[in-house]
Amino acid sequence: MSSNKKLFIQTLGCQMNDTDSQHMASELEKHKDYVQTNIMEEADLIIINTCSVREKPVSRLFSEIGQFNKKKKQGAKIGVAGCTASHLGEDIIRRAPAVDFVLGARNISKIKDIVDIKGSVEISINHDESTYEFATAKTNKYRASVNISVGCDKKCTYCIVPSTRGEEISIPPEMIVDQVRRSVAEGAVEVTLLGQNVNSYGRNFSDGRGKYTFTNLLQDVSKVEGLERIRFTSPHPLHMDDEFIEEFAKNPKISKCIHMPLQSGSTSILRAMKRGYTKEWFLNRAAKLRALVPNLRITTDIIVAFPGETQEDFEDTLDVVNQVRFNQIFNFKYSPRPGTEALNFADIEIPDENGSARLIELIELHKKHLVEIMDTYVGETMTVLIESLKPNGEVCGFTDNFLQVFTKGSDELLGQFVNIKITEASRTSLKGVVVL
Ligand code: 5AD
Ligand code: SF4
Repeated sequence: MSSNKKLFIQTLGCQMNDTDSQHMASELEKHKDYVQTNIMEEADLIIINTCSVREKPVSRLFSEIGQFNKKKKQGAKIGVAGCTASHLGEDIIRRAPAVDFVLGARNISKIKDIVDIKGSVEISINHDESTYEFATAKTNKYRASVNISVGCDKKCTYCIVPSTRGEEISIPPEMIVDQVRRSVAEGAVEVTLLGQNVNSYGRNFSDGRGKYTFTNLLQDVSKVEGLERIRFTSPHPLHMDDEFIEEFAKNPKISKCIHMPLQSGSTSILRAMKRGYTKEWFLNRAAKLRALVPNLRITTDIIVAFPGETQEDFEDTLDVVNQVRFNQIFNFKYSPRPGTEALNFADIEIPDENGSARLIELIELHKKHLVEIMDTYVGETMTVLIESLKPNGEVCGFTDNFLQVFTKGSDELLGQFVNIKITEASRTSLKGVVVL
C-alpha cells in the first residue's frame, strides 16, 4: 500500500526497547499507513522510545524533544514512549507541550489507538499484552528478536524497571514458537529470545496454565527447522540451575555466549541489592559453565559505587573479574533512581569521584584481560555467519559465541556460514581470511 506518512523512531536503552520500536513501527504501518524513515526532518510522526534505567538518558529527553520540535516538519507529531514514558507520564506533556502523546513500555499495542489523539497518555503498568500478536521483529535479514515475557518480578533495590514495565507475565510458548517459525520463514537463521529475566520464564502465564520452564522453551524453540542459532538475554545468575546449564551446554543450536549480570562481586553488596545470590554462587555457576562449554564467552553488567560499597567490597568485584575473565563488561556507576529501595541508603552514597576512580580501575583491568583473550584467537579457524557489507570491500558477521569478525568479501557471502582463519585481533573484534 502506498503512503505519504513517514515515521521516525529514536530508540534508547535495551534490546527490548529495540523490539518495542519495531513493534510500534509495524503496528503503525499496518493500521495507520506509516512507513519508516531515517530522516527526522521528513517525518510526520516522531517517536522517542526512552530508557530510564539511569539518570543520564532521562535528563537528555527534554533537550531532545526541544531539538526535534525546532527541526521537525511543520505539523509533525511527537510521541514519547518506553520506560521514561511509564515513569513520568503526563508530566512529560506538562513540561514539554510539544509532545502529542505518551505511551508506556507496557502499552506498545495501544500505539494505533492513541497516535491520533492529542494529549493522550497510556501508561498503565497492569496492562497485559502478553498474548498480543505483533509482527516479527528483525535486527537484519538473518536475525530476529522474539519477546518471551513482559515485565519483571525481581526487586533489585537499584532498579526502576519493575515500576516501568510492571509484573512479569510469560508469553505462551506456542506463540513464541510461532513467532520463531514465522521469522525463519522470512529468512532468519538466528533468533534472540528477550525478557527482563528470561530464565524465570514460565512461572506466570496470563491464562494461569501449569509450570513450563525456560529450559523447556529452549528445547521447543530449537526444534524449529531452519533455525540455526538461539541467543537470549538477560538470564539471572540466581536461576542458572544445573538443568539449565546442562541444556545450554548440550544443545548445539544455543549460542555459546552467555550474559551473566554480576552487578557486584561482594556478597554483602549483593544482599543490599537483593540479588539473591552470593559471590560464591556466581563463581560456582561460571566455573560450571566454563567446565562444560568449550569456547564459552561470558559477558556481564557491573555497577560500581552502590551505596555503602567499601574498598573491600570493590576488591571482591575485581576478584570475580579476575577469576571469571569476562569477555565483555557493561560497566555502570550507580545512579539513584526514583521510587527504588536503594534511595533509603542515600546517607551512605559513595562520592562521585570515588565511583569514577573505581570505574576506571575496573575498565583498565578488563582491557588487560581482553588483549590477552583476543590474542588467543589468532591462527584459529572460526565459523562466521556473514550478516553485513562494510564500505572498504569487507563483510562482517558473528561466530556462534558472538565474536564479531571482518573479512574481505562481497554480497555473495551474505547469509552464509563461512570458515575464517583469524589473522588479527583487536579488543572488540577479529579479522581474517576465508578458508574452504
Ligand atoms: N544505576 C546504575 N546502573 C544500573 N543498572 C540498572 N539500574 C541501575 C542504576 N540505578 C544497570 C544494571 C543492569 C543494566 C541494564 O543497567 O547493571 O543490569
Ligand atoms: Fe531501559 Fe530497563 Fe526500560 Fe530497557 S527495561 S528501556 S534498560 S529502563
